[in-house]
Amino acid sequence: MKVLVIGGGGREHALAWKLAASPKVQCVYVAPGNGGTALDPRLENVPISEPLELAEFAQRESVALTVVGPEAPLAAGVVDLFRARELRIFGPTRAAAQLESSKAFCKAFMQRHGIPTARWASFGDAAAAHAYVAQQGAPIVVKADGLAAGKGVVVAMSLPQAHAAIDAMLDGSALGVHHNDGGARVVIEEFLEGEEASFIAMVDGEHLLPLATSQDHKRLRDDDEGPNTGGMGAYSPAPVITPNLHARVMQEIMRPTVAGMKRDGIVFTGFLYAGLMIDAQGNPKTLEFNARLGDPEAQPILMRLKSDLFDALMHATDGTLDQVELQWDPHIALGVVMAAAGYPEAPRKGATISGIPAASDDLMVFHAGTARDGERLSVSGGRVLCVTALGSTVRRAQQRAYEGVDHIRFEGAQHRRDIGHRAVRR
Ligand code: AMP
Ligand code: GLY
Repeated sequence: MKVLVIGGGGREHALAWKLAASPKVQCVYVAPGNGGTALDPRLENVPISEPLELAEFAQRESVALTVVGPEAPLAAGVVDLFRARELRIFGPTRAAAQLESSKAFCKAFMQRHGIPTARWASFGDAAAAHAYVAQQGAPIVVKADGLAAGKGVVVAMSLPQAHAAIDAMLDGSALGVHHNDGGARVVIEEFLEGEEASFIAMVDGEHLLPLATSQDHKRLRDDDEGPNTGGMGAYSPAPVITPNLHARVMQEIMRPTVAGMKRDGIVFTGFLYAGLMIDAQGNPKTLEFNARLGDPEAQPILMRLKSDLFDALMHATDGTLDQVELQWDPHIALGVVMAAAGYPEAPRKGATISGIPAASDDLMVFHAGTARDGERLSVSGGRVLCVTALGSTVRRAQQRAYEGVDHIRFEGAQHRRDIGHRAVRR
């Protein structure tokens, strides 16, 4: 069978790599893919990204299954378009993807269905937003309503910071923030303290199949300092999610979300990702939902998956996820992101990359912002590589991943040295 993965980041490299391992899969197309998917002989890059062209390609090539990686094509309605042509695709419809693409939609949904989350209010009017913040006090969190590629959230530790964030986000020209229909809006939210974790499940509209848990590292620099990024590294499992907490997250957050979407008439299919904050007493709250796999969470999670991902996705698109049980490697998987100079504000492209170690049973370098030009591999995006390793302990996985990182060279490379630090300290 032929499979199509939409996207070109590290998450999509991991999805394609795992799908290619299925004996039922003869070819994996990646659209548009990256330098890493170009290097793997089992994968084939297709230089298209428009939903209509993708559907035409899938039809022409008799693609049996398409999986969507990033949020942008979901919000553009790629799933609706494929389904209208009776093409099998795993992902949420445009309406269901609003759980991620509109923070205001998501917060109203959680409130309606009693899903634990931070207190909030939503504003289109700057004066009202400023007055609310002044009344609530700092710390407080200001979020742009639309998709903002990880740049739409300001955790303001002081009031001036909060006021500045409101002005920046409600200004139509704010850098990289995509406003939803109806214009600029901000969501202002209670500041939550605790430890974050990523909880991701496959959803077929009715049934949920949780994946292994994970933890991301959002800040650019060690000790969780510096600006927010798309994610500088992740590991799986996340020990903060104890078996008891896992059961509570399923019971209080994940199942009510899938049931609530169905009740609202917006059946959710696809990867459902809850970004959780666990407080000191061990109570989970939902910071956000994403309607896709996490990046870089997907890289360590998929490295631990022993079951056939193609089979699971076929069940997920047949509505029979209740018949699937996933097997996980008991090892810890840990991925370290290497980012371009200038990331996240202004990543510098073009540097030559060398020294990538060969894949082995316990090490895999997933590519993201890389491009292949003949024999030369170069930097073409903000997050460049995710060096992912397996180990019997967090420390061993960490050591193995950093051995890989230390072989790799490109000008201005940035990475954190402390990925997994919370699990090491436990
Ligand atoms: P989001 O895109 O909503 O996940 O926000 C990005 C990051 O901002 C999260 O991973 C948290 O680190 C932080 N954050 C978001 N909302 C809150 C909140 N209510 N309280 C504290 N930190 C938050
Ligand atoms: N790593 C966080 C995300 O994918 O949104």
